[in-house]
Amino acid sequence: MSSLYNNAPHGGHLINRIATAAEKQEFLDQADKLPRITIDDRAASDLAMIAIGGFSPLIGFMAQSDYETVVTDMRLANGTPWSIPVTLSVTEDEAEPLKEGGWIRLDDSTGRFIGILELTQKYRYSKAHEAENVYGTDETKHPGVKVIYDQGPINLAGPVWLLERDPHPLFPAYQIDPAASRQMFADRGWKTVVGFQTRNPIHRAHEYIQKCALETVDGLFLHPLVGATKSDDIPADVRMRCYEIMMERYFPKDRVILAINPSAMRYAGPREAIFHALVRKNYGCTHFIVGRDHAGVGDYYGTYDAQHIFDEFEPGELGIMPMKFEHAFYCTRTEQMATTKTSPSKPEERVHLSGTKVREMLRRGELPPAQFSRPEVAQELAKAMQAQAAK
Ligand code: ADX
Repeated sequence: MSSLYNNAPHGGHLINRIATAAEKQEFLDQADKLPRITIDDRAASDLAMIAIGGFSPLIGFMAQSDYETVVTDMRLANGTPWSIPVTLSVTEDEAEPLKEGGWIRLDDSTGRFIGILELTQKYRYSKAHEAENVYGTDETKHPGVKVIYDQGPINLAGPVWLLERDPHPLFPAYQIDPAASRQMFADRGWKTVVGFQTRNPIHRAHEYIQKCALETVDGLFLHPLVGATKSDDIPADVRMRCYEIMMERYFPKDRVILAINPSAMRYAGPREAIFHALVRKNYGCTHFIVGRDHAGVGDYYGTYDAQHIFDEFEPGELGIMPMKFEHAFYCTRTEQMATTKTSPSKPEERVHLSGTKVREMLRRGELPPAQFSRPEVAQELAKAMQAQAAK
């Protein structure tokens, strides 16, 4: 395999922090005696991602030394590239009684015991510093920054265990964790696999860049994010139904695997593109698609900033190859999907709609044109919009 990519997990081996049967029994025996904190959906999904190895080499929530180098230099304290803090924040009152060196029981927002944190450190951090470095702004109208300002001022750090890996409540058939995806790629003989991150309903530009990428590698790993997103994003169940339609009609099933990415969205643009790539590397991908304004929100990031940031690492250092795509559209002159690299079109000959525009059309009861969206997908979205409006 090229030295520019390999299919080893980030940091060398795949982390597994799912409690063994014996560990689980021990945790359950202690459960009522341990200090407990309730964690939000994002922290719960981070806990799961750490446990299944999606965040390898992390084995827990970040200690201050890792946190600080990640925020300032996009590296863990030992130099390994890592671009997004993975932290567990609590209020002063929650932190006060917790003793370093002890176990803490982690409950999810429904009160269910889901994991254990071995507390090694409590530390304060600067919200403004994190926001400016990671998100490029400290405006709280940025949804990722808002999360930081809404959370507590103290981070709890240490190794974690997930009590057990439950099937996903909505998408059990698509819960393919890194060990399983790696096995599937190997079983199919795929040496090169391109990962695709998305939080939006699939449209023709997505399909175009997915298929262009697939022309050059063995397999395509469609990996929609189904963790927490901002409230005006299309819900994950609707997006997954659109992908099922596409799998049924428009993708070669022997070359494409659809699976969920349980993480929460950060909207950190360029920094998140690196993070998204490293996570897909852990799932076994060798390549990763980065298109226009990847993981962006509003106009916080330049259209191709999320591509340029890959140049800040040495070739081969990330171990996964970004496949960079320009803004794709339907070209009415050549009657095909294209970018300005492949089409001589004038701007008025290009059909491209923003997610916001499509949502507005659907709300008005109009279907986006076939050049923008496969008709079956448009109908599915319209149905979901109408159901939501009727609520
Ligand atoms: S994201 O927040 O998950 O990046 P989205 O689901 O819209 O949002 O995008 C998924 C991937 O497709 C990203 O890599 C993004 O850059 C890319 N992408 C989305 N629309 C286009 C487009 N019209 N042209 C090229 N790339 C695109």
